[in-house]
Amino acid sequence: MSDGTDSQERLIAPLPRITIQAFCETGGIADVIGAASGDRRMQKAHVKVQMGGAPAAVEAYRHSPTPNVIVLEFQGDRSGVLGSLDQLSSVCDAGTKVVVIGHVNDVILYRELIRRGVSEYLIAPVPVLDFIQAASDLFGSPGTEPLGRTIAVAGAKGGVGSSTVAHNLGWAIAKNLSSQTVIADLDIAFGTAGLDFNQDPPQGISEAIFAPDRLDANLVDRLLSKCSDNLSLLAAPAMLDRTTDLTETAVDGLIDILRASTPTIVLDVPHTWTAWAKRLLTSSDEIVLVATPDLASLRNVKNLFDLLRQARPNDSKPRVVLNQTGLPKRPEIAVAEFAKAIGTDIAAVLPFDAALFGTAANNGQMIAEVQPSGKHAEVFGQLGAAITGRSEPRRLRSGILDPLLSKLARRKAS
Ligand SMILES: Nc1ncnc2c1ncn2[C@@H]1O[C@H](COP(=O)(O)OP(=O)(O)OP(=O)(O)O)[C@@H](O)[C@H]1O
Ligand SMILES: [Mg+2]
Repeated sequence: MSDGTDSQERLIAPLPRITIQAFCETGGIADVIGAASGDRRMQKAHVKVQMGGAPAAVEAYRHSPTPNVIVLEFQGDRSGVLGSLDQLSSVCDAGTKVVVIGHVNDVILYRELIRRGVSEYLIAPVPVLDFIQAASDLFGSPGTEPLGRTIAVAGAKGGVGSSTVAHNLGWAIAKNLSSQTVIADLDIAFGTAGLDFNQDPPQGISEAIFAPDRLDANLVDRLLSKCSDNLSLLAAPAMLDRTTDLTETAVDGLIDILRASTPTIVLDVPHTWTAWAKRLLTSSDEIVLVATPDLASLRNVKNLFDLLRQARPNDSKPRVVLNQTGLPKRPEIAVAEFAKAIGTDIAAVLPFDAALFGTAANNGQMIAEVQPSGKHAEVFGQLGAAITGRSEPRRLRSGILDPLLSKLARRKAS
């Protein structure tokens, strides 16, 4: 086994912020992966090593989501390997990469593995650096897709709760789906992500946006503050010394760097209609529009929905979240009517709950931390699963609201 001394000659790109789970059959391979996880290039990756091989993996993923990379060791012959892999494929999420470590040099097996979508086949004994190289190449080699998916969350009006949704959604994805997540607070002057997570980092997103010539992956790493195992925050300074009339492309560099290093990036986009904010929404992988059940929200969300659909005909539709429903004594537009007027299903409904949201905000906690088994926590979990493709969104019925539609049409026409 190599002791790693050839690292001088080998250029191995550091691994991004991914999760790797290995299921080994021999102590030797478990030790190699354990040693690799301590290497500086794997500092950002979360590595978990366990024994039991493919059967343990199939069992583990029957009910829980799969990580970015699964490593499987097989001592058996070709038919055993392929049979186990076929079983695993039925419980494997799309996007998960599989690396197989075998003990036989078998070309036919290699071809069959590649045909089944396995990313890499390594033959034991595997030197530590070879393992790191293989893992690194899964993400860094030319032609591979950028790792990260961006989810932009914006409000139909100011104050509708879009930041609250963004933060709880990011938290739920990091916690429930074990996906490394960064929440970036783009509300540079007034952002609340730091408050909501009880974090007060000395530096934050403005360092990345206002110093484009210094911007690189190391700078972004230094600006991230860690909230939990899988969640980091790029907080806004909430200072007024700079204005946020940025150039249209001002945020592009930061987003590219985040996408290269982190699987899930939640963007808390402020309610402004600047060129850069519009570009951020249009160019995100997923969009969440948060609205309250009133006419102004409905008009705005419909306009945003239509514009974004037109600008991104080949992408998934923006998901509309109705927040603060059921506020006592306030007249409101019913969920079904809201959906009908926009022409899309409502992805999630979050009832108004002053005590719950107030407590969470005051304590710098997430909703699921204040009330883990409550309805709101469940909704954030389901929304996160739907957006990351881990489950089908729950469909809400849409009804008919002709009076409202015609009222909107009349207003548009006049
Ligand atoms: N479902 C809810 N029930 C009760 N209070 C809520 C709910 N959702 C959000 N809030 C509260 O509403 C307030 C505004 O929320 P938030 O800051 O997330 O809105 P925003 O749309 O991001 O506002 P801004 O336009 O200022 O960025 C916060 O105090 C938050 O705790
Ligand atoms: Mg906000």
